[in-house]
Amino acid sequence: MLAIEQYTRRLLKDFYPIIAANRPPVDPAPEGGERDRYVRGAGGLVTGLSGLAQATGAVWVASIRDGFEELGVGGGGEPMMVATGDGSRYQVSWVNPPRLAYDLYYNTIANPLFWFVQHYLWNLAEAPILDDSTHRAWDEGYRRVNQLFGQHVIREARRGRKRPLLLSQDYHLYLVPRIVRRELADAVIQHFIHIPWPTPQYWKVLPRYMRDEIMDGLLACDIVGMQTSSDVRNFLLTCEENMGLPVDFRLQTAFYRGRTVWVRRYPISIDVREFERVAASPAVERAEREILRWRPEQLIFRVDRMDLSKNIVRGFFAYERLLQAHPEWRGRVVFWAMLQKTRQTVPEYREYARQVIQVARVINSRFGSQAWQPIRLELREDINRAVAGYKQFDVLLVNPIYDGMNLVAKEGVTVNRRGGALVLSENAGTHEELGEWALTINPFDVDSTAQALHQALLMDPVERHARAEKMREVVQQNDVARWISAQLQDIRDLIEPMAARQPELAQESF
Ligand code: F6P
Repeated sequence: MLAIEQYTRRLLKDFYPIIAANRPPVDPAPEGGERDRYVRGAGGLVTGLSGLAQATGAVWVASIRDGFEELGVGGGGEPMMVATGDGSRYQVSWVNPPRLAYDLYYNTIANPLFWFVQHYLWNLAEAPILDDSTHRAWDEGYRRVNQLFGQHVIREARRGRKRPLLLSQDYHLYLVPRIVRRELADAVIQHFIHIPWPTPQYWKVLPRYMRDEIMDGLLACDIVGMQTSSDVRNFLLTCEENMGLPVDFRLQTAFYRGRTVWVRRYPISIDVREFERVAASPAVERAEREILRWRPEQLIFRVDRMDLSKNIVRGFFAYERLLQAHPEWRGRVVFWAMLQKTRQTVPEYREYARQVIQVARVINSRFGSQAWQPIRLELREDINRAVAGYKQFDVLLVNPIYDGMNLVAKEGVTVNRRGGALVLSENAGTHEELGEWALTINPFDVDSTAQALHQALLMDPVERHARAEKMREVVQQNDVARWISAQLQDIRDLIEPMAARQPELAQESF
């Protein structure tokens, strides 16, 4: 990160950068002592942004989530320096919404409603049913927490002596850009959306006032950042069809309230060098030795939060079909699923976790024997063990229904040592970059997913290695440093007046 850090600092020397995201960059350490109370937070958003935060020295405005109060973290004060055991340091400014407001924002609007709309998860014949409680959650939860975040950002921006640069994130904070723009007309605002942007028609599941306010919020930005070209197109179509705005698909701009808003694709990625360092660490090597004691001839692997969008149950059904159609694999292959419970405050997630465990049990009792269990289900969060699994897989299954990017695919192909194959959903954002060398599946079709698994297991090793190498190269070239520099370069090129440019920076690229 060193080169990108220097580059970023120079590029942003006239700005006061602020990141706003629901999640902080750190989580409380599971068995933390006085000195290592925090670990790097989970999920793709933190993976991408922690590099950006460290490179820019930005203040990170985030919610206080469960587990933080015990660490004495309080909202509303000065930013506080937080360090993790691996030496990363972040300046965090905590927003502390009232419990009920946070619950309505996170557990009623952001996760069940927006997450479901943006991943096309509803069975529309039955759900959602929107009623007064939804409208109340919008007013007293989502709007209120966004308001708190907005005020926090404004206060933070006024502390800095330079022009504020707000990098707000994701579906939790759609209203923040407008709240900030109202007070700070000259701020540069970029909002990045980590999850898919669906078609204008699908947005119409939401009541008009809600979707209009979301668009009004986002269109207060200078730049709206997206993961894929299809997200960019859908966003522009939404501006045109749902808002009646003039848009330019070639320049990727929308015009709103007399301003031009740029809509750009920045596929998020991983810190390749850092990830390779972790893969070579003694802790990962220890985990690998343990895996080598039980790994079969062929190992199918997946790592996921138990999120409905990850399509874990259909992945098991596909594997069941494989064992049915090709009994020759029984006893020779294991499907290792390393899963983490997530959002257990949302009923749909609790039910999904139950279903995943149940289906794995049924398949194991149908095909398993004393000597062999077809599915190895591990419910745990253990980065070292996950990376050891990445090194050891023969086939990595990434079959989401829809996914903004999916960093598991990028992490897996970066450190795998066996020329492993990637079976990849055409609806994962990462398919735009890796699809050519992966085995592409329709995530709903369990029979063709079974065939893809079979094909991957049988693939000629020369071809498998060649594909794996190509995928590794793509991720290496487009790692997180490029994600950061592409955004900052656009901020400079699109927003800053030509005269303010520094010619020497134009020579550099990442
Ligand atoms: O962008 C989606 C995301 O915010 C990712 O960072 C992460 O995979 C997940 O959602 C985390 O969700 P939560 O913060 O609700 O646990």
